Amino acid sequence: MAVSINKVLISDSVNKKCEELLKAHGIDVVTKFNLSPTELIKELETCNGLIVRSETKVTKEIIVASKTLRVIGRAGTGVDNIDIDAATRKGIIVLNAPNGNSISACELTCSFITSLARNVTVACQSMKEGRWDRKAFSGGSELSGKTLAIIGLGKIGKEVAFRMRAFDMQIVGYDPFVTAEEANTYSIKRLELADIWSISDYITIHTPLIQQTKNLINQSVFAQCKQGVKIINAARGGIINEKDLLQALEDGICAGAALDVYTEEPPTNEITKKLISHPKVIATPHIGASTKEAQIRVAVEVAEQFISLNDTNAEYKV
Ligand code: NAD
Ligand code: MLT
Repeated sequence: MAVSINKVLISDSVNKKCEELLKAHGIDVVTKFNLSPTELIKELETCNGLIVRSETKVTKEIIVASKTLRVIGRAGTGVDNIDIDAATRKGIIVLNAPNGNSISACELTCSFITSLARNVTVACQSMKEGRWDRKAFSGGSELSGKTLAIIGLGKIGKEVAFRMRAFDMQIVGYDPFVTAEEANTYSIKRLELADIWSISDYITIHTPLIQQTKNLINQSVFAQCKQGVKIINAARGGIINEKDLLQALEDGICAGAALDVYTEEPPTNEITKKLISHPKVIATPHIGASTKEAQIRVAVEVAEQFISLNDTNAEYKV
């Protein structure tokens, strides 16, 4: 059966270049945000393509209910908000735009690391509240000579390594699919996870959220960490166990965390909210990919794939 896309629903905020490109290639586009599952199912009745970011949850219920849907596109990297098993069972193609936002996510991670080192966000807040408190914010530490562990040595993890080497950090890392030789070419010393925890001053996560990485950073990991470790997650909520992180912050094992992603977005549960308001936590609302450059790149990347499906229609079989 060939894939032919003639009408696409864009259900999250994607740069307008996506819509423009699709329309220029004769594909109809409907743009509607914040749809309930029932509204989404209704909208999809007349569409054979759907484009999302992370807000729309493309659940099994939605996939099963749709009779016309043929392709789901993610204007970004992570596809954990799409039920891929359900889509595969129905022969629906799931595609993403994995390259366009790597640098933006990497740069946010690097700014998290440097901010954690020097109390930047809390010191700034105190100034805005009218205080001049040099003493409270002394005792930061240099990054030079400290060990940064990168968990997940894919596109973003490698870019982070490249940039943080410039701060003279020692970089160690783990990825089950990256060899010591490959890691070495990025100046990363590849270690097994068990050897990483006790030597790291900073740990940053760059894996997908999958079965193997859910709660990867948990109470037993914190028990093996250096007192005062700092942790960064601009990958996916749920890779760090939020309850265990909160405890580690309270116990002083973890001296700071910077989070862009949460188990629930927007967060409503008490644990996540306590983490966000914790004085040692820097929290941003999932903005890793939210730069002008990245949003244009992913919008174009996803649209071009829809267009090429139509162009190669004759050969493309599912
Ligand atoms: P990538 O696929 O290039 O790299 C992910 C790496 O994780 C791969 O090399 C893979 O081998 C590795 N990995 C898989 N299982 C692992 C495990 N158990 N332990 C250690 N490593 C493991 O992906 P990427 O583009 O680098 O993205 C990384 C993460 O960042 C994804 O979760 C993505 O969704 C997220 N992301 C977030 C934002 C944001 O806005 N905050 C933006 C872009 C990407
Ligand atoms: C991604 O995985 O690409 C990010 O979460 C960015 C986004 O939400 O678009």
